Amino acid sequence: MEGAHRRRASRFDAAAALAARALPSALTSYIDQARLDARMVLDRASGKSPAPVVSEAPAPIPLDEVDTLSLLPRRLADKLRAAGRDARMLRDRLILGKTPSPVIERPRPAAGAVVSLPRKTPDMARPLKVTRVVRETEDAISIYVTEADGSPVEFQPGQFLSVDVTVNGERLRRAYSLASACLSGVPRHITVKRIQDGRVSHHLNATIAEGDELAVLGPSGNFTVEPRSVNQRHLVMIAGGSGITPIMSILETVLRVETASRVTLIYGNRGWDDVIFRDRLQALCEEFGDRLTVDHVLEHPPEWWTGERGLLTGDVIESRLTALHVEDDGLRRYFICGPTPMMEAAHAVLETRGVAPSRVAEERFTSPEARAGVSGSSQTERVVIARAGFEHGVQVEPGQTILEAALGAGVDMPFSCAMGGCGACRVRLVDGDVEMEEPNCLSRAEHDQGYVLTCIGRPLTQSKVEVET
Ligand code: FES
Repeated sequence: MEGAHRRRASRFDAAAALAARALPSALTSYIDQARLDARMVLDRASGKSPAPVVSEAPAPIPLDEVDTLSLLPRRLADKLRAAGRDARMLRDRLILGKTPSPVIERPRPAAGAVVSLPRKTPDMARPLKVTRVVRETEDAISIYVTEADGSPVEFQPGQFLSVDVTVNGERLRRAYSLASACLSGVPRHITVKRIQDGRVSHHLNATIAEGDELAVLGPSGNFTVEPRSVNQRHLVMIAGGSGITPIMSILETVLRVETASRVTLIYGNRGWDDVIFRDRLQALCEEFGDRLTVDHVLEHPPEWWTGERGLLTGDVIESRLTALHVEDDGLRRYFICGPTPMMEAAHAVLETRGVAPSRVAEERFTSPEARAGVSGSSQTERVVIARAGFEHGVQVEPGQTILEAALGAGVDMPFSCAMGGCGACRVRLVDGDVEMEEPNCLSRAEHDQGYVLTCIGRPLTQSKVEVET
């Protein structure tokens, strides 16, 4: 998930994006810088503080993600988007022979997307077919999956699936990233590392086998990129342990699609045998040469080890960035995923280096076992949900989440993973007090701005939340 919320793309951004796509890619960084400079001047002229001064300010959307159709009148743009979707579907069907999933027609999940749901608890899991299970390390397996009809799971690099399993009679849900390159013909897989006290990760490592069915929701998540062949950029990634899984998908997809882009990865692990995708990364280094730099940091290295030792603390991250000659150029994007202390350290280092939060993407996965449980109010609380100019009052029973109560009352609510992992159910707390299990996927900036997640949020008092559309 992006580390800060974003400013809406304006027509000005769209014009810059159009120019960047029409002109040689060598000019892209200059166009982007001119866009940001011009916007700062306009903001100052209109009395607004520029984003770098006020860290809570919405960050500008990256140029390569701006929708150029927003230059057109909204109705025409909507029609062209719909025509584009139809054309892509026809191409997939007639030329590539793909058929859409027969189970659920899913909009691409994104924070803020509104999905109409049945009046029930969040339960829309569909079965995937397990086609292969590969052991990556002593503690991690990759589970290869297809849709039930054998078609590939559609996703964006960096997204995850929410896996629904029953362990000892208890239904549990966990998020696992798709670690495959997001390219046609590449088999899709999630990778599951056994973690201490992790009931689902232990269960899957011990029992899942080829031919099984795996119930999932998603894909979900905004920790992603949109690779474009014209891009020419340098992505810097910092991963710890199983945090490599979404990073691996982004890294390989970008290297294959963007032939002028390069990636630097700093990857921390306990020991050499714990390095998930060790051979795959080595093969990619050989294939892509100086377009990919992988810097392993080991806490307990073998005797022959000559690389960096220790945990990915702030000092180690700073020294590796310096050793790898990673200087910030004001445009570079950073991706971080791993244990919470590593992520906090990486944020602090990047902040000290002057990197704007808008250029740092992060994915926070936390096992519910590692979260502090919350129970909310011991009495029924009324929560008002404001959305698109309407207000709905719902009664939240003790122990219920706001999402469960709202769906039960027939209120359409945005959500995806239903476990605090994707941010799709994010709403703004307007009034009252809502308690959430911590840590969760909200960034520090989102916490500070008063956002809460309805899927794990329980009111402590009468409250009001606003769904942003
Ligand atoms: S639905 Fe994913 S965080 Fe709430």
